Amino acid sequence: MIIAIDGPAGAGKSTVARRVASELGAAFLDTGAMYRAITLVVLERGIHPGDATACAGVAQETVLDFAPDGTIRIDGRPGEPDIRGETVTRNVSAVSAHGGVREAIVAEQRALARRLGNVVAEGRDTTTVVFPAADHKFFLSASPAVRARRRAEQDNVPERYEAIRADIERRDRLDATRALSPLVQAADAVAINADQLDVDAVVGRILSTVRASHPSDA
Ligand code: DC
Repeated sequence: MIIAIDGPAGAGKSTVARRVASELGAAFLDTGAMYRAITLVVLERGIHPGDATACAGVAQETVLDFAPDGTIRIDGRPGEPDIRGETVTRNVSAVSAHGGVREAIVAEQRALARRLGNVVAEGRDTTTVVFPAADHKFFLSASPAVRARRRAEQDNVPERYEAIRADIERRDRLDATRALSPLVQAADAVAINADQLDVDAVVGRILSTVRASHPSDA
């Protein structure tokens, strides 16, 4: 079974998807971590994030997989915490916009899902491009203000609220307006707005939707 969850940066997709996966005994596929991992290698090698050919080469030759705890490995080494750093975050939109990068990563995502069987995937295009025939699709969103406030609280940096909000709005724009696989809500995705919902409530909503059509997973 494949459950796909898309939505903008900072809507809580990773936390929610991780929880849903563990409740259902499924694997968690963090597709954003894969684009971050490629971006990290690109920067480490001194490649310009705008160099489509070189970035695609990195995506093709880098082996990505996930440790049993769900964290990404890059050619066998742990990708955390480096893939969450500010430089990677600043450059990941540019690297993930290249067609050659997306082609390589999407192929890897499908291969991983085939191998893992039951998967909860989250990202920007998992409901539309990677797994268009997913058993369940969700689009999780929240306003930029709410996403920025939660992130600032979570990282305990209230003074950075404005900067975080500006970065979220910048990434929303880039992710939604890029030519390839822009962030859009799939017509058959269940929309969840998390402005008024905490993580438990979002997880509960997803699990009840899934369990309603797969009673044996309850
Ligand atoms: O979810 P995240 O913030 O870790 O994602 C990092 C970046 O990767 C995001 O700015 C856009 C890109 N991304 C993508 O292009 N397609 C996906 N399926 C997931 C993420």
